[in-house]
Amino acid sequence: AYQSAVPGYRLGDPSLPQSPVSLAELDLLKQTLLFTEEDTYYLRKAGDVLVPQTDAILDVWYGFVGSHPHLLHYFTNKADATPNMDYLGRVRARFGQWIKDTTDADYGQSWLNYQHELGVRHTRAGKNKTDNVASVEHIHLRYLIAFIVPISATIEPFLNKADASPDEARKMHAAWTKAVVLQVILWSHPYIKPGDF
Ligand code: HEM
Repeated sequence: AYQSAVPGYRLGDPSLPQSPVSLAELDLLKQTLLFTEEDTYYLRKAGDVLVPQTDAILDVWYGFVGSHPHLLHYFTNKADATPNMDYLGRVRARFGQWIKDTTDADYGQSWLNYQHELGVRHTRAGKNKTDNVASVEHIHLRYLIAFIVPISATIEPFLNKADASPDEARKMHAAWTKAVVLQVILWSHPYIKPGDF
């Protein structure tokens, strides 16, 4: 049976349901985002730089969420509104794996299937289930979209630590941002009424 080193992380799990988005639709999305082979190349390079800094990156992102009560809210216990530290910790481990997997994504069927699952996990259809927690039920789509900005902006200083020219750092950053936008688009699917995605 499928087993991941990170509890609840299921990229590559063959028992995941198929994404409602097709590979042909994914290809058109990539074209629309100006996502090319060059971006794939710079994403790989970004991975070499970012993966060893994963913990420091997660500290920044968790610091951002933790200092905004309206965001921390989504990690709180439904019963008493206190932060669920177990939940925060388990999601953090998956988030770390996700940084790596974003930089070496193959954009194949099994990647696409997990994208759908990631979207579902932000909604009342799937949130809290992986970690069996009693947290608030649903993350509002507006914050998923807004989060693209901090997830993109905060990565830039980590890329600048690379042994790369400013031009290469800029290209790595552009590729990272496109990769995040592409995923959030796919994650929006479960939020949107049938036929409107
Ligand atoms: C889960 C990334 C927006 C709260 C996750 C995971 C990742 C991730 C990688 C772990 C997925 C897995 O289970 O393997 C992102 C990205 C976002 C985004 C890239 C937007 C660009 C948000 C926002 C919130 C949020 C705005 C609200 C503060 C959560 C929570 C979970 C989670 C609570 C755990 C869901 C569960 O119960 O399984 N996110 N996220 N995320 N994220 Fe997000």
